[in-house]
Amino acid sequence: MQEGTVLIYAIANQKGGVGKTTTAINLAACLAQSGERVLLVDMDSQANASHGLGVRVPKGQPAILDVLLGECGIASIVRPSSVPGLDLVPSSPDVAGASVLLPALEHRESRLRNALAEPGFPRADYSFIFIDCPPSLGLLTVNALVAADQVIIPVQTEYYALEGLAQLMSTIGAVRLRLNPALTIAGLVLTMVDLRTTLARQVEQEIRTHFPALSFKTVVPRNVRLAEAPSHGVPVFMLDPHCPGSDAYFDLALEVVDHG
Ligand SMILES: Nc1ncnc2c1ncn2[C@@H]1O[C@H](COP(=O)(O)OP(=O)(O)OP(=O)(O)O)[C@@H](O)[C@H]1O
Ligand SMILES: [Mg+2]
Repeated sequence: MQEGTVLIYAIANQKGGVGKTTTAINLAACLAQSGERVLLVDMDSQANASHGLGVRVPKGQPAILDVLLGECGIASIVRPSSVPGLDLVPSSPDVAGASVLLPALEHRESRLRNALAEPGFPRADYSFIFIDCPPSLGLLTVNALVAADQVIIPVQTEYYALEGLAQLMSTIGAVRLRLNPALTIAGLVLTMVDLRTTLARQVEQEIRTHFPALSFKTVVPRNVRLAEAPSHGVPVFMLDPHCPGSDAYFDLALEVVDHG
């Protein structure tokens, strides 16, 4: 990695509940814990990433939607999270309004990319930026894909895991063609894996066969600590540094650094 360059990752899959936010929080936090300066941008109106990092935006206070609408600069809403070295651009339920308000605006697909390039935003302070996407392929996810260098795709290890991936791949292809030619796929990461079950092993095998060059080696096991950590407003390693979920996300962080 070049000195002073920031790598921007969108964490996307239009399927709900596959581990996007868990991956965004814990990957970002593991890199921050390793001494990197990291920013997490919450693009989801559920605000799960914000809450999971101990941040709740009071009603009426600015959040990511105000940035996308051009009502404030991104630098004015960046704030520290519960993890030293990890900053957050928070979301709030108001982001749901984006689906109504964004389509009418100019450069509607590039609003996040433009915000991250604002002169007032200290982009060079960060070595990694992660963008947590909502469970849809709408304008918010498109904004994330346009702003990103690479996409990380969490895939839940279940029977219907591959369903929807073709549609996601074609959206990524369309964004690459029209708006962000440099966009690449960093990889698919298998989440909530229970390797004691034959089904999980079969699904893992199927995904590695379909996407041999695209699957991260690290798999994230099903681990109750990962599900508990958000209610404490912290990533899993701050709750239990030696649980399997914590180990997995540190391993994934190493792979991400190595891939560059
Ligand atoms: N490896 C895991 N082990 C156990 N529980 C997990 C794991 N990963 C995620 N979960 C839990 O599964 C649920 C869905 O995870 P998460 O919120 O990360 O998915 P998501 O893709 O961001 O969902 P959405 O599409 O709604 O944004 C959450 O309750 C989370 O705590
Ligand atoms: Mg989420």
